[in-house]
This record gives sequence, C-alpha cells and structure tokens, in this order.
Amino acid sequence: MIHALMIVFGGTGDLAHRKLYPAVCNLYFSGLLPQEFALVSVGRRDKTTEEFRKEVVDSITKDSNINPVKNKDLDDITSRFYYYKNDFYSNQGYEDLGKFLQQLDEKYETRGNRVFYLAVAPEHFGPVVERINSAGLTPNSGNSWQRVVIEKPFGKDLDSAAKLNQDISRVFDEENIYRIDHYLGKEMMQNIMVIRFANTLFEPLWNNKHIDHIQITSSETVGVENRGGYYEGSGALRDMMQNHMLQLLMLTAMEPPVNLDNQSIRDEKVKVLRALSPMTPEEVKRNVVRGQYGPGIDGDRKLKGYRQEERVSPQSNTETYVAMKLMVNNIRWAGVPFYLRTGKRMPCKTTEIAIQFSEPPEVLYFKEFQRLESNLLVIKIQPREGAFLQFNAKKPGARSEIIPVAMDFCQNCDIGAESVDAYVRLLYDVLRGDSTLFTRWDEVEHSWRFIDKIAKTWEDTAPDFPNYSAGNWGPEEARELIERDERMWRDVCDYY
Ligand code: BG6
Repeated sequence: MIHALMIVFGGTGDLAHRKLYPAVCNLYFSGLLPQEFALVSVGRRDKTTEEFRKEVVDSITKDSNINPVKNKDLDDITSRFYYYKNDFYSNQGYEDLGKFLQQLDEKYETRGNRVFYLAVAPEHFGPVVERINSAGLTPNSGNSWQRVVIEKPFGKDLDSAAKLNQDISRVFDEENIYRIDHYLGKEMMQNIMVIRFANTLFEPLWNNKHIDHIQITSSETVGVENRGGYYEGSGALRDMMQNHMLQLLMLTAMEPPVNLDNQSIRDEKVKVLRALSPMTPEEVKRNVVRGQYGPGIDGDRKLKGYRQEERVSPQSNTETYVAMKLMVNNIRWAGVPFYLRTGKRMPCKTTEIAIQFSEPPEVLYFKEFQRLESNLLVIKIQPREGAFLQFNAKKPGARSEIIPVAMDFCQNCDIGAESVDAYVRLLYDVLRGDSTLFTRWDEVEHSWRFIDKIAKTWEDTAPDFPNYSAGNWGPEEARELIERDERMWRDVCDYY
C-alpha cells in the first residue's frame, strides 16, 4: 500500500474538483488507498479546511460517477483533506507549508513520500517547483520519494517546453516527473497495445503490405465553453494534436516493446515521432488544413461562432479544427498515409482509430461484384469503448450477393459497465510510481518539433476564417485533403 501526502497546487480549481478529488475518493472506495494518506489543497483564496471539505463532498456527490458513495466512506476520506492558503510566490509561505506537511507526515505516517500536483496555470509551474525546492519540501531522505505531476499544456512550443523542463529537472529527476496526458488513462487507450500485441490475428497484418491507410479522429460537440482565454493562445493544433492525437498515433504505429516496463514502451512510442519528418511550408500547405467554426444550428438551438465566444477576439485567427495527412517514415509504414482530424463543434463526440485494410485481390468475386469492401478494424476509444471488425460474407438467399458484416465488441454498452475516469488510473500510477502512462520528456520534445513547423507556417499566412459552421464536419478543404487520394473520411458517429 502507498503511504503518501498529496499536495495539490491550484486545489480550489475546476480540474481539482471535477477530476482529482473524485479520483482520490474512487481509489479509497476501491480499497486502493491506505489509511496512511492525506491530501493538502493549496490555494490563494481564504477558506477553512471545513469549508474545503464541504466543497469536495458537494462536488463529488453532484457530478461524479463514483459508485456507490457511502457517506461514512466519504467522511473517512475527506477527513484527511486539508486546505492551506498560500500565495504561489511567497517564500515564507512555502517554509510554513513545509512545517505543516511535516506535522501531517507524522500524523498519517506518510514517511516523507509526497506527490506535488500542479493544477495551476502553466506560467506558475517553474516558480512553484523552484520554491518547493528552496523551502526544502522535497526531503528526499533515503527511503522516501517525491514526485511532481504536471498538467498540460507542457509549453506552447519546443523552446518554452525545454525551458520549463529545465526548471523542473533542476528539482526532480525525470523518473519523478509525471506529465499528464489524460488520454493515456482512458481504458481503450491501454487496450490498443493489448489488441495489437496479445492477438495473433492483427499484428501480422499491421503494416504496409496489408493496410491501405489509417484514420484517427477525435471530434467534440462542445465549443470552447468558458476557456476562451486559454484557447486563444493554443488552438486545436496545440490543445489536441500535439498531445492526445499524437499519443493515439504513437500507440497505433509503434513497434512491439521488448517488455512492458515504462521505458521500453516509451522508447518505442518515441521512435514513431522520430519517424515523422517535420513538414516544409509547402507540405504544411498541402497536407494540413485548419478551420474555425462560425455560427451554426443544432436542432433548434443556435450555436455561436468561435469569434463570438467569451474572451475570444472578434478577429481571432485561432483554429478550432485541424486535419492532416502524415507519413511515418519507417519500414513498417512506408507508403501508408495516416489521416488525423480533431475539432470542436462537430456533429458528434467520438474518438476512434480506423484501420482500413487493403482492397481484396481483384480476382474471383471481383469480376462479378465489381467492388468488394475492404476489411476494416475500428478501435473505439470513446464514448463507446470497444472494437469493430468488418469483413465480407455472403448475403443469405438464392442470389449470390456479398455484403460487409461486422463483429462488434462493446465493453461499455452494458448498464453499469461504465469505465472509471482516466484520472483514477493515472493517480493510482503516480502513487505507485509507474510512469508508463505519462509523457516522457523526449516524447514532448519530438512532438513539439513536429508541431512547431506547422505552427510557424501558419503564423506567416492568414487563414480564411470562419470556414465551417458549428455542428458540421470542418472545412471543405479537409474533405479535399483526403479525397485527393481517392479516399473518404469515415462517418464516425456512434448510433446506439
Ligand atoms: C483537453 C483539451 O486536453 O481535452 C480540451 O484541453 C478537450 O480542449 C479535452 O475538450 C477533450 O478530452 P476528452 O476526454 O473529453 O476527449
């Protein structure tokens, strides 16, 4: 069992209430947290520990899917939650916090083990870590450990990410830095490797001899909501492509690791990024499409355009949609295009990977039926979780007809089979010291190297925004991007 203190900077914020506290409670209810655990929320607001505990209970009972919530258990775990008011920039404040942590260490026998969770705006990451260190909050006394968890965005380009990494690495070794990409905590993300490497069926076909192309989609129906301030400086390229979408790509395209330890898996993932050649400006123009939603309609609901959203400039050139074609330049994938797309205000919320196998040979049935559908494997990440395999079979009846049929595995279709939130798994891994589902520095580095080229090219050219209406599948150019290759985007909405 894990004895530890968890210190959450930015502990009064939305992320902490919606994700972290429910996840901690979930672990406790599942018997995965010991009695020797306490949590300190550090924030700038005035608040007592009692008020803080009450807020946690309210947010947990209001909108989490923790099941079942027994009041006694909830009281048990929240009785170990504390609030500590501290200005992120006050050196004295950190000294005092250190004394408070020591008291809790003794009270809960947490042995000096600490998780510092930075749920603060990125500009505070470096300064907070520096003060954690100078106030001696990382005792590192032989048997104890201290880890830091960093929320995204990890920088906004390679230079800022490298600077941030330098600041953090002065205090924490790479093995104690946990960079969150919450997609990695999703059940089906972890299943991609299992589907690929625990079956004899797929892996032999997982290459350019049998696969025509791969489509990776992550679409959302929501707009920027109340995050305009952040999103204006980010856009879909940095907000989704640089991290979640490239993670999906890595897991799909990586070679089998030599074993399942965290370094071996991440070694293979990063090789995929290294095999992406950074695009020239001409390649960016040809292979990457950006879009921004304008006003639209969803049923009888009017949807605002991005430029009309709160804290967004009315002339904003920030993209809310990106589609791209890229090639993974290695022996396995030579000649196989990967089409990636992500956007806000799309017709449905879905994340999936579609593996389109090559066309069946043009003999035998082909003569009679002109065209047979290719085999298709779709790994569904969310909201439906599962895998769908399409193949050809004879349609029953006197006539000879061939139709595509499917085997469909859905792991969350049964009521009550809802997967736990990604943060539950991620927090558990932080506490037990397994960083496999976190982003290693070289992954961050290579992903920015690739993304920066695109961002730079876009800086130099003005987009024609808005170019799709809210509730639609992105701009016309995205359709052209794939149709130019005589392929089509899949209809990805889950109709169930
Ligand atoms: C976040 C992005 O990382 O992922 C958001 O900042 C996006 O803009 C979200 O909405 C999507 O996550 P999920 O789990 O809802 O697909």
